[in-house]
Amino acid sequence: MHTITLINGDGIGPEISKAVVDIIEASGLHINWDIQTAGADVIEQEGSPLPDRVLESIKRNKIALKAPVTTPIGKGFRSVNVQLRKALDLYANLRPCKNLPNVKTRFDNVDIVVVRENTEDLYAGIERQVDENTAESIKIITRKASDRICRFAFDYALKNNRNEVCCVTKANIMKLSDGLFLDTYREVAKEYPQIKTREILVDNLCMQLVQNPSQFDVLVLPNLYGDIVSDLCAGLIGGLGVAQGANIGTDYAVFEPVHGSAPDIKGQNKANPTALLLSAIEMLKYIGETTYAEKIEKALFKTLENGICTADLGGCASTTEFTGAVIDNL
Ligand code: NAI
Repeated sequence: MHTITLINGDGIGPEISKAVVDIIEASGLHINWDIQTAGADVIEQEGSPLPDRVLESIKRNKIALKAPVTTPIGKGFRSVNVQLRKALDLYANLRPCKNLPNVKTRFDNVDIVVVRENTEDLYAGIERQVDENTAESIKIITRKASDRICRFAFDYALKNNRNEVCCVTKANIMKLSDGLFLDTYREVAKEYPQIKTREILVDNLCMQLVQNPSQFDVLVLPNLYGDIVSDLCAGLIGGLGVAQGANIGTDYAVFEPVHGSAPDIKGQNKANPTALLLSAIEMLKYIGETTYAEKIEKALFKTLENGICTADLGGCASTTEFTGAVIDNL
């Protein structure tokens, strides 16, 4: 039996976590959940939103499913997400973006996987105030980090029967930093002759994505462009309630939805569990439980095809009604 860390989060976290745990259990797959609380709620007793026991649990189990946690503003605590990524060296941010049945969007043939480098670029946070009127941020790109993220993208493409990995940069302007990322991509690509290559500048990519997104397959990007483009792609498939994600490293992987803890609808039985469920489906595929992953995915799609959805997607089902419908379709 798999033992997996479950960070059930706060805000809507506990509601959607319960939904996903119930659906997985109903599929016939028994998972031993190592439940760990984190976030604003634990600060008072434990002095940190991410106590050591949470990291120890993930290090023990290797895999975690994480619901959103609230990051308290202005209390000097770093975001739980940023801390997790750093402490576990989760260098790849994976965001599969695919249209879902009955979720109305501008385009109906989107199937893009965004692979974002998660550890460096302008997000390394190296900044200084040069003088009163000038600030400076340093963009770090290394061959080591570029190599492993490009390799991750090509390996993902191979394993998931994708045809192309497109490298996104602004190498025409940032010739050294983005140039190094692009150069590394070209080197790595030589080892994957089965996968098509493509290079595009990030501004052109954005225009093409909002005009004709179906031309793209797997995208690999440095951190900053990846952050922006992955939200653009989430918008293409219906927004926060359906956008899944994962942070993956060599030793550990944390699967989590893109959205936050949605305090405005907390405790109202309104939250859409789809994004966390899709993240869990990707997690099951990752640990080799493909049959259960596909079974749950089919039940989710059938529920949406039947017009059952939560309010964020224009429906009237509550979280528990939606969960019940997915379970019935299993
Ligand atoms: P948010 O994503 O929580 O909410 C934005 C809007 O989308 C709200 O109107 C919310 O009701 C709606 N929404 C989000 N998820 C939904 C769902 N599953 N079903 C239905 N509606 C949904 O973003 P916000 O308000 O900026 O952040 C709230 C808190 O979450 C903050 O403390 C922030 O730091 C934290 N956060 C945590 C993340 C994580 O743990 N991965 C990621 C993003 C934000």
